[in-house]
Amino acid sequence: MTILVTGGAGYIGSHTVLELLSANQEVVVIDNLSNSNEESLKRVSSITGKKIHFYRGDLLDKGLVDNIFVKHDIDSVIHFAGLKAVGESNEIPLTYYRNNIAATISVLEIMATHNVKSFVFSSSATVYGDPASVPINESFPTSATNPYGRSKLMIEEVLADLYESDNSWNIACLRYFNPVGAHKSGLIGEDPNGIPNNLMPFISQVAVGKRELLSVYGNDYNTHDGTGVRDYIHVVDLALGHLKALDKLKSNPGRVTYNLGTGCGYSVLEMIKAFEKAANKTIPYRIVERRMGDIAECYAATDLAEEELGWKANLSISDMTNDTWRWQTMNPNGYE
Ligand code: NAD
Ligand code: UD1
Repeated sequence: MTILVTGGAGYIGSHTVLELLSANQEVVVIDNLSNSNEESLKRVSSITGKKIHFYRGDLLDKGLVDNIFVKHDIDSVIHFAGLKAVGESNEIPLTYYRNNIAATISVLEIMATHNVKSFVFSSSATVYGDPASVPINESFPTSATNPYGRSKLMIEEVLADLYESDNSWNIACLRYFNPVGAHKSGLIGEDPNGIPNNLMPFISQVAVGKRELLSVYGNDYNTHDGTGVRDYIHVVDLALGHLKALDKLKSNPGRVTYNLGTGCGYSVLEMIKAFEKAANKTIPYRIVERRMGDIAECYAATDLAEEELGWKANLSISDMTNDTWRWQTMNPNGYE
């Protein structure tokens, strides 16, 4: 059994490849390295002592992708490849739609010609928009406020139509909450380009001295301390959710959708405190205006994934901060 992992050199992809190899799966990766470094895969190989078949190239290159299916006995695809910066997606929406939606359709078409019909898709909690209440379960209404979120929602709809047209497909849409943390070896982790958009990498760059000060986007939300609340999930727990999803697809479930979160919400100020403990440093911050498009509170109902996937997040907030800090201090400049 060989699994094709698109975007496997990236943050979540590399952690998932590591867990797949540890579970003795054959793994083929395609990645154009537009937001990653091949070094992540080299390190995954050295941690696991296993080989990864790596193709550097774009998913939109049909010839290359088709050739991968000819050469390898692929039976499932885990599809991480995509662009993910919300702000950038407002500036270059067509690039986002081509890279996220058109590339997904292209892969699905090639899979169909090779009769490979098992597909795990990286969706996001962003598809819930501004939820009316928390915790959020999988049947909450969906919406999008930016091209990135809309691309995730549109792909989910494409997958629903595909399944309606041919129910021999097995499709899992996994809606991630906020992935953070790093592998406990400290050898792989999140390596954002330029100024991080997300909270955890920003805090950790302040702690290591790369940035002076964290801006906390608003303390007047309707939450217990006024700052935004999110469901942070350790990337290793998230990676393991993909292995459970592959197991589920083997049982021929049709089309399924699961939240991957912990079910716990932490505020920005709580995350700062937790990180200060891990790094044994003070994180300087100031309160600024709210960030456009942000919501007050977001955390997952996790019962469906627990019941149907047999998956539950196990790692704690201190695992998330300790592991992020280990990765940051061992690799102050990421993979470079
Ligand atoms: P990432 O940027 O680290 O990984 C994505 C990988 O895909 C990168 O290695 C990039 O080089 C590659 N890629 C992009 N377009 C490609 C293309 N056309 N052809 C080949 N390779 C391509 O991001 P990540 O954080 O690992 O996220 C993985 C997936 O999970 C993405 O689809 C993202 O939208 C989704 N997701 C991420 C988060 C998060 O907070 N990290 C949350 C929800 C959903
Ligand atoms: C962001 C994306 C969302 C994506 C998610 C996971 C936006 C508007 N939304 O969501 O689409 O699915 O990442 O990749 O970009 N914060 C600060 N200071 C910072 C950074 C963040 O105070 O420098 C706060 C935010 O206001 C929020 C919390 O920290 O309350 C988490 O922010 P972030 O890590 O960017 O994740 P999301 O806002 O959930």
